[in-house]
Amino acid sequence: MNTQVTYNQALDLLKSGEIVAIPTETVYGLAGRIDSQKTLENIFKIKKRPSFDPLIVHCYDAIQAKQYISGDISFVESLWKYFSPGPLTIVVPKNDKILPIITAHQETVALRIPKHPLVRDLLKNLNIPLAAPSANLYGKLSPTQAKDVISIFSGSIPVLDGGDCEVGLESTIIQPDVKNKQIFILRPGIITEEDLQKFLKDNNLDFSVCNKKDSFQPGGQMEHYQPDVPLIFIESDKEDSQITDFLKSKYPKKSIQKLCLEKSPQILARYLYSDLRKLSQDKNNIIFVVREKNQEGDIWNAIWNRLEKASSKKINLR
Ligand code: TXA
Ligand code: MG
Repeated sequence: MNTQVTYNQALDLLKSGEIVAIPTETVYGLAGRIDSQKTLENIFKIKKRPSFDPLIVHCYDAIQAKQYISGDISFVESLWKYFSPGPLTIVVPKNDKILPIITAHQETVALRIPKHPLVRDLLKNLNIPLAAPSANLYGKLSPTQAKDVISIFSGSIPVLDGGDCEVGLESTIIQPDVKNKQIFILRPGIITEEDLQKFLKDNNLDFSVCNKKDSFQPGGQMEHYQPDVPLIFIESDKEDSQITDFLKSKYPKKSIQKLCLEKSPQILARYLYSDLRKLSQDKNNIIFVVREKNQEGDIWNAIWNRLEKASSKKINLR
């Protein structure tokens, strides 16, 4: 079944409390209006997401987003001024306009002002924010093309096609601690630590940026971005053929496939999930990826974060 909908149909469906898979610049999202308890319950149900893992609230602009924050907003406003619209999600203290189901009953809410023109138009015309987790089943790879969403949900969810997602990885999630002058990165993304440092410098702010281990983050370690076949994470300086031979001896019945990383990190990030999807189509495949020494810093942090979580095994051949 093909369930692609037009922009106007998507808008009407969202208005009436239905769930629509929508494009964003990062990945496709499973969107529903934030003021309908039933809609929000359905998002968790369709995604098979546990109720303790909170959702991101997508807003049109800072004026809309700040309505949901409790306490001082000046620091968040300066972040939005610098980075929005864009692939940055900010975790802030919430007020009671945010239904508890969205935040899994926590006192903070994750807010994002997305950049994709279609989601911006939807948010503008709806005049109410959209809760949207990535439009995958819980624990699986996020979709970066409309056809991915159609195949994940077997055509049971309306999908608005906005083309291939430009970023390809989920947004960077940060949590500012203004009192202690710190910004925690809860999930690395295309907006990097270096970008945050530059923001601080340009705004004359004396804050530090810290990478927070996922295990400290509510819900953070739960989603695993897993492809449908095993992905083996290899640390090695050996030739590909030697690695393939090694894996062949371990898995004689399997077809051994290398995930190729020879692209710029931007392009790699954009196509990472669709490359993994393609390599997962044949269930006899085993994918391997080799971590090389020069692939560090910047966007590589986000790429390795996803690949480490997506892998089912790590083998050190050094
Ligand atoms: O790029 C994105 O962020 C995509 C697109 C659709 O916008 N959305 C997305 O949503 O990746 P989701 O639900 O797949 O991932 C959101 C992550 C989850 O790991 C969740 O635990 C975390 O954000 N999160 C949400 N609210 C939070 C909060 N209040 N505190 C800490 N983490 C939170
Ligand atoms: Mg997700």
